[in-house]
Amino acid sequence: MLYNILKFAHILSVIVWVGGMAFAHFFLRPAVQSLEPPQRLRLMRDVMQRFLNAVAAAVVVLFASGLWMIGRLAKQTVQSGGGFAMPLDWTIMAVLGIVMMAIFGHIRFALFKRLQCAVAASDWPAGGQAMAAIRRWVGVNLAIGVVIVGVTLLL
Ligand code: HEM
Repeated sequence: MLYNILKFAHILSVIVWVGGMAFAHFFLRPAVQSLEPPQRLRLMRDVMQRFLNAVAAAVVVLFASGLWMIGRLAKQTVQSGGGFAMPLDWTIMAVLGIVMMAIFGHIRFALFKRLQCAVAASDWPAGGQAMAAIRRWVGVNLAIGVVIVGVTLLL
């Protein structure tokens, strides 16, 4: 039962993170292009602030639940006298998941800080550059997220 609850929390976190990136990338960003830079960048800063906080929580839940599920299987296998070898799809998920988390850290602590400073200083060209870099990295993380879901469900 606990395993299923953790897997449920794991999947909810994936939905918030990957679904939120898809929404931002394909629906929100194209729609705000019609706004002037000051309005657009202020709006995107406020949206990103909320979204990145939610993703930070999702990352903690994903990582902790993922590690716990691996640990549970390893413990059960060893207790029943077998040797533990991590399934290939889990290994790919864990490695790519950590890459996604590192990219998230770069977006949150470098690029988003740059966006906040630029908006605070009304430096719209710098804000536009920071936002473009955020968009690129969100696109990369979205692609990796889709690969992970594909690998875990198709392999
Ligand atoms: C360090 C990070 C992660 C670790 C250690 C990890 C580990 C795990 C483990 C052990 C399971 C249980 C699989 C099962 O019971 O069959 C699982 C399920 C799953 N994880 Fe992750 N995961 C991580 C990150 C991610 C990320 C970033 C995504 C997607 C973006 C993701 C998507 C999924 C999906 C879709 C399942 C359900 C697979 C199924 O039921 O067949 N995981 N994960």
